Amino acid sequence: MMPISRPASAVQWARAFVLPALGRVSRAVDATAGNGHDTLFLAENVGPGGHVYALDIQEEALEKTRARIEAAGLKDRVTLLLRGHQDLDRLVEAPVDAVMFNLGYLPGSDRTVTTGPETTRDGISAALRILRPGGRLSVVAYTGHPGAREEAVAVAGLMGGLDLKEFNVQKMVFWNSRGDSPELYFATRAGEDNG
Ligand SMILES: C[S@@+](CC[C@H](N)C(=O)[O-])C[C@H]1O[C@@H](n2cnc3c(N)ncnc32)[C@H](O)[C@@H]1O
Repeated sequence: MMPISRPASAVQWARAFVLPALGRVSRAVDATAGNGHDTLFLAENVGPGGHVYALDIQEEALEKTRARIEAAGLKDRVTLLLRGHQDLDRLVEAPVDAVMFNLGYLPGSDRTVTTGPETTRDGISAALRILRPGGRLSVVAYTGHPGAREEAVAVAGLMGGLDLKEFNVQKMVFWNSRGDSPELYFATRAGEDNG
């Protein structure tokens, strides 16, 4: 799993959560490609026959993601989509084993282009529709930048309202941080592959 020699970051926790849903021929989605770190993580773990779909609304993000996966020799396993994740279930082959949402803005870029409450809610709903039984979805919602709290509230409402018979949902925060802790939501679809 994850080396615990130092405190894990939000994205490391998210990766540790989705990892058990990935196997030798898996399908995964990075719903917010950004700089491509999560896309690379997924590409490394879907197996040689697996596939990753990486979505972002910014060309710049997809260029950075492309460069990262090419450098790792994994470009054949990844489809880059210049599309909003709200259309996710119409853009990728279903079902999928794992989906990651890392919300907010592209680090090192224009901070005014961020994910937003409505599109995020639609995107997560679309992702949950195509998650296989036993599949895992992670959301890292930040609370520090303008608009972030509203988005975190929207995510909390959606995840909290999911039917317990269909999804098992956990929330995690960095409890002793000095404020503005990211909020992590982890959903697993119920079913035979829950192992
Ligand atoms: C925090 S970054 C993601 C970081 C990324 N996962 C990584 O590993 O580097 C958030 C990204 O979401 C993208 N974004 C904003 N709205 C979006 C939408 N509706 N659909 C897909 N991506 C979106 C932004 O352009 C930005 O690149």
